[in-house]
Amino acid sequence: MDDGAHSQAAVADRQAIIGTILAVLRERTGYDFSRYRPATVERRIHNRMIAAGIDSPAEYLALLESTPEETFRLIERLTIKVSRFYRNNGTFDVLRQELIPYLAGARGEMPIRIWSAGCACGEEAYTLAMLLEEAGHAGFVEATDIDPSALGAAHVGFYSEEAVAELPPDLLDRYLERASQGRRAGYRVRDALRQRVRFSRHDLTSRVSIADGACFDLVCCRNTLIYLQRDVQERALGALRRALAPGGFLCLGEAEWPGPAARPSLEPFRHQARIFRAAGRPPAGDA
Ligand SMILES: C[S@@+](CC[C@H](N)C(=O)[O-])C[C@H]1O[C@@H](n2cnc3c(N)ncnc32)[C@H](O)[C@@H]1O
Repeated sequence: MDDGAHSQAAVADRQAIIGTILAVLRERTGYDFSRYRPATVERRIHNRMIAAGIDSPAEYLALLESTPEETFRLIERLTIKVSRFYRNNGTFDVLRQELIPYLAGARGEMPIRIWSAGCACGEEAYTLAMLLEEAGHAGFVEATDIDPSALGAAHVGFYSEEAVAELPPDLLDRYLERASQGRRAGYRVRDALRQRVRFSRHDLTSRVSIADGACFDLVCCRNTLIYLQRDVQERALGALRRALAPGGFLCLGEAEWPGPAARPSLEPFRHQARIFRAAGRPPAGDA
């Protein structure tokens, strides 16, 4: 075999082992990471291998197969939970100054209904709840994530200094209080804010929707779809779009954009902030 053939065989071997690693995860937990972008999955498995002091995928597979606890350590790496309060502040400025006040006017006596999809440890959901409080309007945030450990942390509502670094000081003072957890100093969400948010588990790649028909005035799904393969991303985006009330708004992450299936039914509202408005008929579901 020449060098080229050798390296092709090595890549095929590595991919086969990664496929087996993902099958082990699927069998043990139901998580299906084969729907995520292969490069991201491979990079994250590699990170976990390094942390475990292992440098061959085959050895890592053996560790995973013999150590059930390794399953959750790997899932921890594969679900990327980086988040912050008021993350990408330009977007939240638009939500705070324009969109939530607009929805408050449009909804009249009715509550504003928000879905934070891929909510990580609750930073985005609690930030949205703060904006509802600021508007002095009835409303709630349905916050979902695939990862139960992230949802557990969201329930606890304790955050580090870094997590709140982008939050405007007036919001920080009103809705969070200084607290500590063991030796860690940080902030805790005040009780009044918690009542606006409900956390539950939901997999955006599943065909089951959390919304029975159109019912949200605002859906935020930021920095989450980007990790999925294009076709899965499209399907998830269609489900998010169908969850919007007529004229409702979809807010994506700065690196995300609706694909061809959802685009005709969404019109740009604020380009920079990646906010779109439901227009026309939602795309048909494929469930
Ligand atoms: C990078 S965080 C984004 C958090 C927040 N939306 C933000 O922009 O700061 C991505 C989140 O998506 C979640 N996630 C990954 N795959 C998912 C899926 N299939 N369904 C629901 N949530 C998922 C991860 O667990 C993680 O908490």
